[in-house]
Amino acid sequence: MQHQSRSISVNGTAHPLPSDPRRSLLDFLREDCGLTGTKKGCDHGQCGACTVLVGGLRINSCLSLAVMHDGDEVTTIEGLGTPENPSPLQRSFHEHDGFQCGYCTPGQICSASAMMDEITNNWPSDASESLTGDIQASDAEIRERMSGNLCRCGAYANILTAIRDAAAGADR
Ligand code: FES
Ligand code: FES
Repeated sequence: MQHQSRSISVNGTAHPLPSDPRRSLLDFLREDCGLTGTKKGCDHGQCGACTVLVGGLRINSCLSLAVMHDGDEVTTIEGLGTPENPSPLQRSFHEHDGFQCGYCTPGQICSASAMMDEITNNWPSDASESLTGDIQASDAEIRERMSGNLCRCGAYANILTAIRDAAAGADR
């Protein structure tokens, strides 16, 4: 049988899987791939600082083992935009001061990016009036859907404005 190399695509670049099966996706991204934009807050699924996209869906990378992602496409904050060429969401956070210390910000932006796709696809949340209707990026929807991303600085008001503005432009 031919040996298949096992790797994860991170922001379009293939990285070999770690040899230690206990390595979290978060530690793999930060320490093996050198992508320190993804932050470790609680390391057990409580804060959302480690949010990344896997196949376009948001997950807490601290709760997932890297070896579970053989062949997956992972996108981190570094893959959404750059300081020279920020994504519309990144620009909106900057314009609206959607942060204070910035520690939660990469997770907020990755989470918001996938959340906007969920709204576009009419996936209902606990705040939705109907399970089958058209869903708008209302403040209540955004608050509910972003409730897994904590901000110890309490920059929530500006985070909400930043996401609402980016959602109005229907761009990420
Ligand atoms: Fe993963 Fe807090 S570091 S949820
Ligand atoms: Fe400091 Fe959110 S900006 S934790």
